[in-house]
Amino acid sequence: MEIQQNTSLKTYNTFGIEAKAKYFCEINSVLELSQALQLTDYPKKFFISGGSNMLITQDIDALVLHINIKGIEIIYEDEDQVHLKVSAGENWHQLILWTLEQNYGGLENMSLIPGNTGTAPIQNIGAYGVELKDSFESCEAMHIATQKPRTFSNEECQFGYRDSYFKNEGKGQYVITSVNFRLTKKNHVLNTSYGAIETELEKQKIKQPKIKDISNAVIAIRQSKLPDPAKIGNSGSFFKNPVVSKQQFVIFNKKYPDAPNYKVSDDAYKIPAGWLIEQCGFKGKRYGDAGVHKNQALVLVNYGNASGAEILELAYTISASVKEKFDLKITPEVNIIK
Ligand code: EPU
Repeated sequence: MEIQQNTSLKTYNTFGIEAKAKYFCEINSVLELSQALQLTDYPKKFFISGGSNMLITQDIDALVLHINIKGIEIIYEDEDQVHLKVSAGENWHQLILWTLEQNYGGLENMSLIPGNTGTAPIQNIGAYGVELKDSFESCEAMHIATQKPRTFSNEECQFGYRDSYFKNEGKGQYVITSVNFRLTKKNHVLNTSYGAIETELEKQKIKQPKIKDISNAVIAIRQSKLPDPAKIGNSGSFFKNPVVSKQQFVIFNKKYPDAPNYKVSDDAYKIPAGWLIEQCGFKGKRYGDAGVHKNQALVLVNYGNASGAEILELAYTISASVKEKFDLKITPEVNIIK
């Protein structure tokens, strides 16, 4: 293990924020992770993997461990299903492309989400009607303080909307080292209910879609709406969609009958934050190098040299404006590193 000093993190976070790690180390195995966690000369540790869900607002005065553990292993299979063990550092989209080559179904709706596999459970990533929890069997994690391994079942992860145990009680206590998925080999459960997917499949004149077609449709939709982090720095949706009670929803809906919404349960409705932000006039706006994406107001972007603090200031301005206009609180989905 080589420890570097004053390492630029610009290429390690998809927002493309320039910030320095005081110390930096690549972690290529579970053993290296355990060894690094025992380095008492560097008491403060910080973890980064795909860097796709963080906004770094200042230099990081710690030993930054880049979780880059690779490997995909079949741990069980029968005629109908396969269980895969995927190491934390495997790129999420590359994993999906690989599963599609093998005709394994379950992850296709989550194509092109940036980031790595090990961080996907932390916020239960999801898109187009499917969430990680739907094919998640378990994950292995290392307890940071004791380096003891622990397996978390689906239930123990307490998945919710962009939420899990690892964002709540387990916050800052574990590093996920691998994730086990349960995928289908036949009789794939296709999820095409999301309007945009139906429209895209119709456009492509596909009547009986296969899992690869769904992935291609999702890729086309995402490419048309969401900026490619390799070209314009971003972290996907910056805010979560606010979830309100039925009572609040009725009042809101009366005032804004045209606002899109999704019923989550009998007493919970989701209101798209992208719509709220657009109504406040921010869509496509640019302030220096910080901005709001022109095709999806929920995505904040770095046109090149914005600092994390500038993006954060823009986020505060946006949420204050949404609060004032709609009396709704929008909170970041992205981890703010202060
Ligand atoms: N909308 C607007 N203006 C905008 C953006 C959206 O009016 O600028 C409206 C749309 O017209 C639509 C509604 O808001 O009626 C929802 O928009 P969209 O389908 O684009 O989805 P979203 O709710 O904004 C969520 C996820 C995305 C995921 C999509 C598709 C969250 C925070 N975001 O976005 O996830 O790809 O649904 O399933 O839940 C991410 O988490 O990084 C992410 C990209």
